[in-house]
Amino acid sequence: MENATLSANLDELFYQPADRFFTSRSHVGLTFDDVTLATQYTEILPKDPHLDIRLADGLTLHIPVISSDMDTVTESRMAIAMALNGGLGLIHYNSSPREQLSEVTRVKNHVHGLIQDPITVSPEQSIGDVIEMITKRKFAFSTFPVVDGTDRLTGLLPGHVVKQRYAKRTVAEALTPRGQVHTIKQAELGADPIARADKFFTDHPGIHKLIVVDGQDRLKGLFTMSDIERISFERSAALKPARDSQFRLLCGAALAPVKQPDGSLDREKYLGQVGHLVDRGVDVVAVSTAHGHSVGVGEMVRAIRGAFPKLPIIAGNVTTAGGVDYLADAGANIIKVGQGPGSICTTRIVAGVGIPQLTALYVAARAAAEKKVAIVADGGITKSGDIVKALTLAQAVVCGGLFAGCPEAPGQIMEINGKVYKQYRGMGSVSAMKAGSAARYGHGAEISKKVAAEGVEALKEVSGSVDSVLAQLIGGIRSGMGYLGARTLEELRAKARYIQVTQAGQREAAPHDIIEVKTGNV
Ligand code: IMP
Repeated sequence: MENATLSANLDELFYQPADRFFTSRSHVGLTFDDVTLATQYTEILPKDPHLDIRLADGLTLHIPVISSDMDTVTESRMAIAMALNGGLGLIHYNSSPREQLSEVTRVKNHVHGLIQDPITVSPEQSIGDVIEMITKRKFAFSTFPVVDGTDRLTGLLPGHVVKQRYAKRTVAEALTPRGQVHTIKQAELGADPIARADKFFTDHPGIHKLIVVDGQDRLKGLFTMSDIERISFERSAALKPARDSQFRLLCGAALAPVKQPDGSLDREKYLGQVGHLVDRGVDVVAVSTAHGHSVGVGEMVRAIRGAFPKLPIIAGNVTTAGGVDYLADAGANIIKVGQGPGSICTTRIVAGVGIPQLTALYVAARAAAEKKVAIVADGGITKSGDIVKALTLAQAVVCGGLFAGCPEAPGQIMEINGKVYKQYRGMGSVSAMKAGSAARYGHGAEISKKVAAEGVEALKEVSGSVDSVLAQLIGGIRSGMGYLGARTLEELRAKARYIQVTQAGQREAAPHDIIEVKTGNV
């Protein structure tokens, strides 16, 4: 018994809970690599933890990961991939309001497994033309819906007639006529289109394509059996897409603090955009700026809250308790924490401000708990261990750099000296500000030589898909939770015990004194 008490006392002395650990270090700013977490007695295996997190009423994610609202990170492709994995993407605002709306619409209308814009052919085309198109555009398929000039379905051109020997014939001569083509009305897809299509293929042996039409028989999409089989297989895996009450993928959008020529906020414009976003089904808006504890951000959040009482609002960025209070009082549900930790960020160098991220998270978390709002840790995350540490204080993380190399991020792949890269730039870099994000950093639309950039333009090596990057990150989070005996993210926050590490401790934490032949990734 005495021994047990001694052990408990020792653990308590060295491995301290957040309050004791951070308040006794109030003279120093700590970030991820400065601390490590102590293990705890566990009955939890990495497969056991639940990663669900409720960020606001009507906004629950199945993984606590959000892709950053940056123009080299999140457009519809990224947001779709994030939501399919159970997370969330925030569509950036460095585009016209109309373009941002159509990006959100793409995410909200996305039906997994449904090819929404199938390549079509027309009845007048020759089979030779179709073969030429397949070769030129390197299609790996040769079955096409046939539509007339008004997009009405007139038949299906099956792959087995797309052959050189029929090159001179027209599509009209070779197609399977409309009456024999299997279709389903868009309105009949129901809440679970994949299950509907899956059942159709089971009920119709030998049929591999199902065409979706609207009430006027206009083409609206195409299911293929191979896609549905792949998705049904993946569904049995652990990840659950993040959806709204109507079974649509979740999607967020960032808002620009639009200014009038006299410098005041253009309330009509930003509220108008929020209204359009809400009409398109947006689940959360983010008032994203470099300094959230400022009159303009407060004003904007207050106005949005007044006009849309139920809409979840993310606001930031802040690193002080006062900043959290201010945005929570203005009506934000989720506060974005991080000033200066971003991988492309130079705010601390240029302006001399910002707080190392883990200390900032602790301070913000304390204030957020009082105000009953959530916080998200934004920036500086380079590995899954950082996420585990962040989640001991915050409800979710926001990542830019970790996803910027994925094929789902906007931007072209470029080859330099045999290696492939994608562009990744800070929203406070000169080029991004010129493209529209200047207001985020408190500048007008004209970027003169006097404006100091707070971000750099960079390259990221092209990485695997969002699915594969997230699989590694989630695997790491699960391991961390297993080590701490935490079945839920709430338990992770309660069970975290910290110790500061020295530079020697940091060296010890990474592979050392070896010649690495293979990294940890599968
Ligand atoms: P990362 O995940 O470390 O690459 O950081 C991404 C985060 O950095 C974003 O979510 C923003 O909060 C922040 N950020 C984006 N652009 C800039 C910039 O130009 N300067 C400072 N911070 C930025």
